[in-house]
Amino acid sequence: MSLVREPGAAAAGGSQARNEVLRDGLLAGLAPEDLAERFGTPAYVYDLDVVTRQVEALRVRLPARFDLAYAVKANPNLAVLRHLAGMGLGADVASGGELRHVVRAGFDPAHVVMTGPGKRADELAAAVEAGVRVVTVESVGELRRLALLAGGLGRVQPVLLRANATSAGAMERVRIIGDDGAGKFGMGPGDMRVAAAEAVESPWLEPIGVHAFGASNVTDAEALAAHAEATVATAANLAVESGFELRLVDVGGGLGIPYATGEAELDLSAFGVRLAELDARMATEPRTHATRLLVEPGRFLVGASGAYLTRVVERKQLGHQHVVIVDGGIHHVLRPTLVGQAHRVRALTGLASGPDAAPDRLPVTIAGPLCTGLDVFVQSAVMALPEPGDLLAVLDVGAYGATESMPLFLSHPMPPEVAVRAGVAWAARPRIDPDTWLGWQSGEPGTEPAGA
Ligand SMILES: Cc1ncc(COP(=O)(O)O)c(C=O)c1O
Repeated sequence: MSLVREPGAAAAGGSQARNEVLRDGLLAGLAPEDLAERFGTPAYVYDLDVVTRQVEALRVRLPARFDLAYAVKANPNLAVLRHLAGMGLGADVASGGELRHVVRAGFDPAHVVMTGPGKRADELAAAVEAGVRVVTVESVGELRRLALLAGGLGRVQPVLLRANATSAGAMERVRIIGDDGAGKFGMGPGDMRVAAAEAVESPWLEPIGVHAFGASNVTDAEALAAHAEATVATAANLAVESGFELRLVDVGGGLGIPYATGEAELDLSAFGVRLAELDARMATEPRTHATRLLVEPGRFLVGASGAYLTRVVERKQLGHQHVVIVDGGIHHVLRPTLVGQAHRVRALTGLASGPDAAPDRLPVTIAGPLCTGLDVFVQSAVMALPEPGDLLAVLDVGAYGATESMPLFLSHPMPPEVAVRAGVAWAARPRIDPDTWLGWQSGEPGTEPAGA
């Protein structure tokens, strides 16, 4: 993890050019100490104004044939969802729970797509009943189950056929950047053909296109555009070969954000230029001139909007090493451990004195309260030594932060999720006491909690 009060860094860490939650020493435009006092620590803080700017920055580069569906898995907090629904985005859901939640948040099901491997019958049926825009099928078996369910409900369901990224040769370039276990997703070319043929034949399915997800956290505009082009080409060929009209191509998400200090951002301008070229080619092709394109980003829209606010509890020295224990840890921000991605950690206390105060810089480890050596945010970094009571922020936790962690480990309270919009902060989800889930258990037969 990179550190706080870097040489030459401005009060908030010298990252003013980035659109992120920490600016001018303020967290989402508010004093960190005020937020900590009002909501307690640890807490996730989401700046919805950052989300707005990310959506607008992307939208302005997308040709008119593109639709945006927010990948809910990145952050399913209701405040985030309502904000994005209010901005007119669609949603990409990957479970029945996410589907119910986006409907609750105000998304029109006609703008909702359902993706993901291993969708159960109840989830597929819920999608059909809700009238979602399209269901992405990941296997021939799933296609058959969906056809039966749709038939049982007397509804015709539009479907996309998901191509396995590792089997699509043209996606090679994306694959070398990062492969998220793409081996389990979608179908190979043979199954794609079988699925397309069966969907064309089915009275209950309407094949409208192809879906392919390249890779996650890609900041290479060229690679992302190449993936979109390759997916359109695959889809156009399949549509002609199988005899369906190509109405939609879903090129997935994967638009990346910088995590480390100095890491390059995705060049949206270059991305936009390449997509405009693709758009122009599609317009001249009879097979694709009316085809719509869908992008389903998660991380790009919400990642930088989130910070994890934590307070120093204890400090000690082990040999030459100073160890600072904070009240939060990897049970709430698992990504660094899970995917080996360092997140920046910033000191929020003492910023008023500024870098000129030049405090002594010492080797410091910042760790959480869990009984595992993995629970470390900063290892032996040379920095100004935080004191008990100081506030720190782990940045870029707006995507895959709360939702990709393990809050039950060691039975600490689940941190609140605080949303901030235009300077107004509210508890979008309150702190959850461990007794909520520990108390809802049964140690003996016949004493099962209600609803078990
Ligand atoms: C099908 C699908 N769409 C969209 C996303 C969102 O990806 P990202 O947050 O990298 O944009 C994912 C992430 O796993 C995904 O599996």
